[in-house]
Amino acid sequence: MINKGLGSAVHIVQMIIAEVLKHGGTAVDATAGNGHDTLFLARLVGSEGRVYAFDIQKKALESTKKLLERYGAAGQVTLLNTGHEEMDKLVPEPVDAVLFNLGYLPGGDHALVTSAGTTVTALKSAVELLRPGGRIGMVLYTGHPGGNEELCAAEQYASGLKGAGFNVIKINYLNRTAHAPVIILVEKAGDLLESQAATQNS
Ligand SMILES: C[S@@+](CC[C@H](N)C(=O)[O-])C[C@H]1O[C@@H](n2cnc3c(N)ncnc32)[C@H](O)[C@@H]1O
Repeated sequence: MINKGLGSAVHIVQMIIAEVLKHGGTAVDATAGNGHDTLFLARLVGSEGRVYAFDIQKKALESTKKLLERYGAAGQVTLLNTGHEEMDKLVPEPVDAVLFNLGYLPGGDHALVTSAGTTVTALKSAVELLRPGGRIGMVLYTGHPGGNEELCAAEQYASGLKGAGFNVIKINYLNRTAHAPVIILVEKAGDLLESQAATQNS
């Protein structure tokens, strides 16, 4: 279980995603890793929804599968043992949320790490796939080689999204070390929350 509170960048992103990802919804976990984020998304969408979870490591997807099975949430998850840069080809429907928890697998091989080029390719696809009102949450780490380049590339792409169509936010910890995680959020303008409320009330 992830530490709660604003001290956890992942927790902040999860809270922001939880507001728009409802039962029956669709989400992408761009980096499944040990499956904690995939499980979080799978619980939100429930058995009627769908989560597409990517990871380049077979081992990571095996851990994710085990975790999902332990909590009875494997049925609503499609595990994809490939890079998230293939998202445009492998996710066949619009999505409400995409989560990127970047970097390397804790306790795993540090060479198997996300990188600027493929992250930006995936981010572009995520923006295309997003429903109006949907959100992308990214947690970026700069303490390893390539991490800062990845942050700069993601930030450069995201800050170029037009303000009329997107809300784009960066969150930094002000009182931690220079390598504290950084959050980037992208929301596609639209009325997902209103349309969900209308559906629930009808
Ligand atoms: C920080 S970990 C993810 C943690 C995970 N979300 C969790 O809840 O345990 C980052 C993961 O990204 C994976 N990864 C690296 N390059 C990738 C790529 N191009 N596409 C998808 N996953 C990738 C790594 O194998 C690693 O498992």
